[in-house]
Amino acid sequence: MLDHLKANNRAWAARKTAADAGFFRRLVGQQAPQYLWIGCSDSRVPANEIVDLDPGELFVHRNVANLAPPQDANYLSVLQFAVDVLKVRHILVVGHYGCGGVRAAVDGHRRGLVDHWLHPIREVYHAHRHELQAIADDDARHNRLCELNVMRQVRNVAADVFVQDAWARSQELMVHGWVYSLQTGLVKDLEVSVSGPEL
Ligand code: CO
Repeated sequence: MLDHLKANNRAWAARKTAADAGFFRRLVGQQAPQYLWIGCSDSRVPANEIVDLDPGELFVHRNVANLAPPQDANYLSVLQFAVDVLKVRHILVVGHYGCGGVRAAVDGHRRGLVDHWLHPIREVYHAHRHELQAIADDDARHNRLCELNVMRQVRNVAADVFVQDAWARSQELMVHGWVYSLQTGLVKDLEVSVSGPEL
């Protein structure tokens, strides 16, 4: 079963070792990434690949529509471990244009559990409904909502007690908001970076 994936894996491990004999041995020794990536589960947005980082360099949390909900135990566990134990320097909230999760949040169709998961995006839509409704083009409006969602999640992360406590003890930590384009492969920095407790 899945023999092609197992073959891919063997070839990949061999390539890594050929290029750097100590690669895996070093990683076993310690995990010391400088970055936490909070991104969408979308298969077209592979975290490490986009920023061309190796295993060990990026701590990753992905979910549908790159949310940072302050009651989600999975996200909070990742965030606390990244901030308190790994002491990452940067947290990247990375959305992407054309996000199906963001679209599903506001298209009016009922899908079940995911409607609850996506509820925060409907709140973002409501908060910015005047700006969004003024955008005539469907894709442009959707893409703007993708950006606004990232900005909102950046604020969630920055307002979290783990992050606030890190800043209170003068730990170096920044939170950033990016959006990735499926069409160009490029990320856009939304320039909403936060580096301290003023919100
Ligand atoms: Co998505």
